[in-house]
Amino acid sequence: MKRSVAIDGPSGSGKSTIARLTAKKYGFIYVDTGAIYRSVGLFVKMSGAGSKDSKAVEKLLPEIKIDIRYDADGVQHMILNGEDVSERIRTPEVSIYASDVSAMPHVRAFLLDMQRELARRYDVVMDGRDIGTVVLPDASVKIFLTASPEARAKRRHLELKAKGLDVSFEEVLSDMEYRDRNDSSREIAPLKPAADSVFIDTTNLTLEESTEAVSKVISEKLGL
Ligand code: DC
Repeated sequence: MKRSVAIDGPSGSGKSTIARLTAKKYGFIYVDTGAIYRSVGLFVKMSGAGSKDSKAVEKLLPEIKIDIRYDADGVQHMILNGEDVSERIRTPEVSIYASDVSAMPHVRAFLLDMQRELARRYDVVMDGRDIGTVVLPDASVKIFLTASPEARAKRRHLELKAKGLDVSFEEVLSDMEYRDRNDSSREIAPLKPAADSVFIDTTNLTLEESTEAVSKVISEKLGL
């Protein structure tokens, strides 16, 4: 029986960095499910369809082939129809596309098996919005990470600037508020803590402190 750790929360809560470090520590595979939605978002954007055009997106799905590869350092790479798009999926425009297409039931159904299959095959730390509630309701450990919108926007802004993207803090904050509303208010698999999740607020914690808090929960629950 494989073990799985579900980490859910809004963007900028520190999820991906913490999940990656934690997976490394325990020798689990890290699965960033946001990157999978982003790959669909990128494909839809490149095809010229609108991000909210559900009918057009549904028609495009059969043309999408997504593979996940891990390099020697355990870093996840997204392969979209044979091309490594790991960098291209990180722009603010693709964030909005990913959030919009992720509200569509056919997109979620299309990606569900792929995520569950990974957890069947490997010990995983999987992060996203609905991992503890929908994708892996029987996960061994469920954590919900959050932080204030300002703290999250500040972190995301620094990340984007470090990558050389020229965006203002206000733009990042307003994109984040848009996505928070979208991701939490959609009918299907909205962002919400699973009833049996452990809630961790990282607003006033450093990355090290947040990772430590997450590790503590995992070690206790899994007896590691
Ligand atoms: O984690 P992220 O910011 O890279 O995710 C991009 C978008 O994908 C996010 O706005 C909502 C969607 N998403 C989702 O609906 N369910 C998940 N499990 C992961 C991401």
